[in-house]
Amino acid sequence: MDTIHDLKTWQNIRRSKIASSVRVGFVPTMGALHAGHASLLERARRECDVVVLSIFVNPTQFDNPEDLAKYPLTLEADLALAARLGTDYVLLPDHAQMYPDDYAYQVIENRFSRELCGAHRPGHFNGVLTVVMKLLNLVRPHRAYFGEKDAQQLELVRAMVDVFFMDVEIIPCPTLRDHDGLALSSRNTRLAPDDRQKARLFPELLQSSLPAGTVRSQLEKAGFQVDYIVDRDGRRYGAVHIGGVRLIDNVIR
Ligand code: PAF
Repeated sequence: MDTIHDLKTWQNIRRSKIASSVRVGFVPTMGALHAGHASLLERARRECDVVVLSIFVNPTQFDNPEDLAKYPLTLEADLALAARLGTDYVLLPDHAQMYPDDYAYQVIENRFSRELCGAHRPGHFNGVLTVVMKLLNLVRPHRAYFGEKDAQQLELVRAMVDVFFMDVEIIPCPTLRDHDGLALSSRNTRLAPDDRQKARLFPELLQSSLPAGTVRSQLEKAGFQVDYIVDRDGRRYGAVHIGGVRLIDNVIR
């Protein structure tokens, strides 16, 4: 496995060492890898000739500096997992390389990105779409793998690729859940034991047949701060805070 910090080095490898007939699979991440990320890497390994992982904690998608400062960093374990799963290249760019323009250029979507998480995290999806566009242009994968836990992100990335005629297939991958139903997320490690116990109520109520308003009030009664519980196009989306940690999830209805 090659670990690459310098983007010029990567671009040379991509140009000169990876033939156009080779199928490249890409898993973009912010690190703190868990079994959900592992399932994306495994699928990319099964379906592609070369697997590329990126680890970049993208500051432009954090609306809250405290959330960015607390984002878990587990690089050593991440690299060990990636190597175990047969990843070929890991890209570890820094901020200066990713944003030489200091974020003057941005990808902005004006509709769906303003709803759900976007309504509570101003600018979040501008940051996500901008960094994903940059990463896809750098890696030029045939397939890029995204988790369905971040369903709004997945939808926006899919639409971006479509409207900008980008030559990549976006592959949605199912949400992985812990034994009690909590969707796997890098943020789960920040939950205090009591809050982790309580967190199971979130997927439980989201999956119930109760109306969205009732789910919201039951979560609030249990001590969650609720950003939204919304039914939209056959899916129920939710975002809550517990003990200072923000959790999102969604289920098909
Ligand atoms: O889902 C994530 O981890 C991030 O939003 C992504 C797609 C890697 C962009 O920073």
